[in-house]
Amino acid sequence: MDTEHRPSPPPISHAQAFEALSGSNIAMVLCDPALPDCPIVYVNRAFELVSGYTAPMAVGRNCRFLQGKDTDPDDIKRIREAVASRVDVTVDIQNYRADGTPFMNRLMLTPIFAADGTLRYFLGIQKPLSEVEDLMSPNAVRSAMREVQHRVKNHLSMIVSLIRLHGRAAGDARDQFELLSRRVESLQVLYQELSNPERRRNMDTVSLGAYLSRLSAATQALDGRAGIRVNVLVDEAEVTTDEAINLGLVVSEVMTNALQHAFEGRETGLMELRLQRLSGQALRVTVSDDGVGMPEGVSWPDKTSVGGSVINGLITQLSGKLVVNTGSTGTVVTLDLPDLALQG
Ligand SMILES: Cc1cc2nc3c(=O)[nH]c(=O)nc-3n(C[C@H](O)[C@H](O)[C@H](O)COP(=O)(O)O)c2cc1C
Repeated sequence: MDTEHRPSPPPISHAQAFEALSGSNIAMVLCDPALPDCPIVYVNRAFELVSGYTAPMAVGRNCRFLQGKDTDPDDIKRIREAVASRVDVTVDIQNYRADGTPFMNRLMLTPIFAADGTLRYFLGIQKPLSEVEDLMSPNAVRSAMREVQHRVKNHLSMIVSLIRLHGRAAGDARDQFELLSRRVESLQVLYQELSNPERRRNMDTVSLGAYLSRLSAATQALDGRAGIRVNVLVDEAEVTTDEAINLGLVVSEVMTNALQHAFEGRETGLMELRLQRLSGQALRVTVSDDGVGMPEGVSWPDKTSVGGSVINGLITQLSGKLVVNTGSTGTVVTLDLPDLALQG
């Protein structure tokens, strides 16, 4: 195509450009952050058509009048934060037309700065999503995930209850049921940590500190007593999910053992769970108590029991080293993990 001899179009003024945009099929609003509560100062015709609100009905109000009972507070929060930080944001948000019908609005919001850098307006572009777009939208996927998470949590709780129920009637095999239920509980807590909405990371790693804190609380809820305090002191360490599962099981086993046996005949007691990040890739987990100590001649974990051999197997998988110091002033179990795949 020959472009060289084409006459250049006459420049248009800002007012003409604005006039042209007002006829766009795309709904848009301008809000003025210099006015109290950042109200709408302009809506185009397409906005009136999409929302059912006429310009006189909308101008002077903050856009939140489009929200309603099923609007997700997390979406509102994301917009609020973007407005406060004066940055662009795109959010799919549940909105309602003037006649009350709901629509999923893909809102694109951007600050507009004057040449001298001062903030003049916020421009909002509203695109109602079709049913199909709505189903595929990040919001819909998120809420489907939430529903699945909710169900998985309930199912895991049910499985734990069933295992415990069978365990009570299992006689000699009771220990094995206990171990199994703890394994599922550890997974349950890990799962809660993975589905924590605050984490924006992938599913391959988990915050060990947060996970062990939750695990400690769960173990205490199951096996603790009113007079036993548990202090949890954890460094931040991001480990692979597999490592977290193995470590979680060892820790819950050690803690359960202490809660069940260390304070026999005592009303009160103190336990401490500590996770320390040592130099390089090394971690140390310590579970200590000020209880009665292990009986003489008892070695823990007991290699001859199912539980003991599972614990030993897990520690070997983690390339860990377990040291148990026990006496009349209590027990300290130290697990050194010199070579974890620590992230960050
Ligand atoms: C230019 C602009 C356009 C907006 N458009 C919408 C919209 O279409 N739908 C909506 O629910 N919120 C919209 N909002 C967001 C609300 O006005 C408000 O910022 C949000 O509810 C968070 O603030 P709040 O927590 O004070 O309500 C828009 C905000 C701005 C600045």
